[in-house]
Amino acid sequence: KRLVVLVSGSGTNLQALLDAIAERGAAAYGAAVVAVGADRDGIEGLARAERAGLPSFVCRVKDHGSREEWDAALTEAVAAYEPDLVVSAGFMKIVGKEFLARFGGRFINTHPALLPSFPGAHGVRDALAYGARVTGCTVHFVDDGVDTGPIIAQGVVEVRDEDDESALHERIKEVERRLLVEVVGRLARNGYRIEGRKVVIQ
Ligand code: GRF
Repeated sequence: KRLVVLVSGSGTNLQALLDAIAERGAAAYGAAVVAVGADRDGIEGLARAERAGLPSFVCRVKDHGSREEWDAALTEAVAAYEPDLVVSAGFMKIVGKEFLARFGGRFINTHPALLPSFPGAHGVRDALAYGARVTGCTVHFVDDGVDTGPIIAQGVVEVRDEDDESALHERIKEVERRLLVEVVGRLARNGYRIEGRKVVIQ
C-alpha cells in the first residue's frame, strides 16, 4: 500500500513510520511512504523526507487566493502520488471538502489527546490545564469536523504532577508513535470497514 504522510513540524511520527518500514521491509509491513507533504517550508519533517530520499511537496495557504484553492491544490498534490492511505502526522491544517471527497475514508490523523476530550490544536495543553489525571493519543479517520472522525485506536498516558506541556507531550508522543505504526500497518495489511462510528479492521 502507498502512503502519503502530511506534516507541519518535527515529523517524529513520520520518522517512526519510516523506521518501522525500513526495519520490517515494506512488503512485510504492508505499506511504504511514497511522498511527504507539508503546509510550510523549513521544518524537520521535510528534512526527514529528504534524508529518506522521498519526494516532498509544500502547499502553503498563503500561496493560494483562497482556502478552497489551497484545498484543491493540496488534493492534487497528494493525488499525484496515488496513495492508498493518507496519514496526517502533526499536520496542522484542516482540509476542505475537495480533499475529503477525494480521500475521505482513507485519511487518518493522530491527535495527542483522548478524543472526544480536548480536540483542536492544543490538546496537550488543554488536558494539562483541565487537570486530567490521564490523557493520551487517538488515531482516527478524518471527517468533516475537527478531530471528530471514527476512532481507530487510543493509547493512555498518565499525567504527572510535575508535568509541563512539553514533558507531557513528549511522553504522549512515545505512545503515539507506536500506536500510529501499529495502526497504519494493520489498516494496510488487513483492510478495514468503517461502519458509522465503528472501525472494523479485518
Ligand atoms: C503529534 O503529537 C501530533 O499528534 C500533534 O503534533 C505532534 C506532531 O509531532 N498534532 P511530530 O511532528 O510527528 O513530531
